[in-house]
Amino acid sequence: MTSVSCSATSHVSHQPSSRTEGYADVLVGLQYGDEGKAKIIDALAPGYDVIARFNGGANAGHTIDTPRGRVALRQLPSGVFHPCAELYIGSGCAINPWKLAEEIEQIREMGVSLEGRLRISARAAIVQPHHMALDRTASHTIGTTGNGIGPCYADRALRVRNDTRVNLMLGDLLSNETETIASMRQVFTRMINAEGGTSPWMAEMSDLLLGLPRVAQTLREYIAPDRSWLANRVANGARVLFEGAQSILLDVVDGSQPYVTSSHTVPAYAYVGGDLPPKYHRRTIGVAKAIVSRVGRGPFPSELGGERSAQYCDEASQSRRGAADELKQHLPDSLLQSSDPFDVGTALRMLTGEYGTGTGRPRRIGMLDLAQLREVIKAHAIDCVYLNKVDCLTHYVHSTYQGVPVRVHREALSHDATPDVLIYPGLTERSIALGREGTLDAAMQGFIDFVERHAGAPLAGIGLGPERASLMALSVHHPVPHAAVEEHG
Ligand code: IMP
Repeated sequence: MTSVSCSATSHVSHQPSSRTEGYADVLVGLQYGDEGKAKIIDALAPGYDVIARFNGGANAGHTIDTPRGRVALRQLPSGVFHPCAELYIGSGCAINPWKLAEEIEQIREMGVSLEGRLRISARAAIVQPHHMALDRTASHTIGTTGNGIGPCYADRALRVRNDTRVNLMLGDLLSNETETIASMRQVFTRMINAEGGTSPWMAEMSDLLLGLPRVAQTLREYIAPDRSWLANRVANGARVLFEGAQSILLDVVDGSQPYVTSSHTVPAYAYVGGDLPPKYHRRTIGVAKAIVSRVGRGPFPSELGGERSAQYCDEASQSRRGAADELKQHLPDSLLQSSDPFDVGTALRMLTGEYGTGTGRPRRIGMLDLAQLREVIKAHAIDCVYLNKVDCLTHYVHSTYQGVPVRVHREALSHDATPDVLIYPGLTERSIALGREGTLDAAMQGFIDFVERHAGAPLAGIGLGPERASLMALSVHHPVPHAAVEEHG
């Protein structure tokens, strides 16, 4: 049988100009973030030499289950627990140096060495105190995470305000610490003065600035002053996996403005923010989730409960109501029996733990949207897809849907492009249990075929549970562009 592999260990179709050259694959989320990218990267990491980030900052939250317990990362690449993987944070990222230093300390305390493994671009932008204060004040309009990422990227483009440089980079902090900190203090003070001389964040921001020299000391050994560090590694044979933060539908240009993040999340940007010439691109790997979720405001066509769900989650996140509050109020199993999709959405959120990693806010829940996935896959030429949380779909079997509701484009079957909802029958807990033991039964194979046909890309793996071992790798049987062809028994 001829099959195509989406793993790093397969042969490369990209023809390097010299035999020693390496390549890069780009892994991105295909929905609204929180698809479980970190888990997939963790599984693929042994096949790569460098795991690199190219966008976003502490607004991202990656949860990884390790033998030492569950760890939430925000800025370090997800390959951190693979001692052979080098880590790179590219110039396209917006770095909160305080949080990054804290994360580095946390990892070191777990006994994981970063010495000689981690490099951070000296041109990565610093998220400054006034960025955080601005974002927190205005976060409710879009429903941002309040980490200062948007104001930081805005200042990168602005460069200078009132004759003061506002785009400060990690390299500035290390080469000119006193002046850089003074500049941050000046911009923050001016902002407060313009607002009448007070700010709820004054004491916190002042403490951050006082602590910055110590933070700079922690980061110093990891900063790469040479803009070609990654390019040189690849020219000498390194295999890179780019790890996208947030996801395609939240791209600042491609997503639905203004309900987007402020960085470029599309795979093509990996080569700008990740500091690597695009000639090294090999393939693009997508990650999606079978229970779709979105945090913050903005369009969500498959949302269970529609506008009511959007409003409920918005209010809950503003009043900081999270998982514990919902558990006190509802029994998820009886909500599942309701004929109201809003209740089913609430039940699924509770049963599948869909609350923000960093913020704890309840995520809006939607049905699997293969119509939307199909468009994204086509627009960005995604070579293969990992679909997480397939096990969670079995909850639907106990709901009034009595099967899995899925949004599809009829064009996958005919020429009718109208989105429509189908009920997919027959996916049972037994199929999931067999899958976890490594057996694909007919029901699971039928579901995989159905998803591939409607999404328009092969599945490279399915997530059947949160543990590392529950990720089932699949042979990819379709001739997709850029992917390598291998013979299997
Ligand atoms: P910001 O990135 O904090 O500016 O937030 C802008 C929008 O992107 C908001 O709707 C956020 O909830 C969303 N967002 C940012 N980061 C993530 C993430 O890692 N996962 C999911 N949504 C995110």
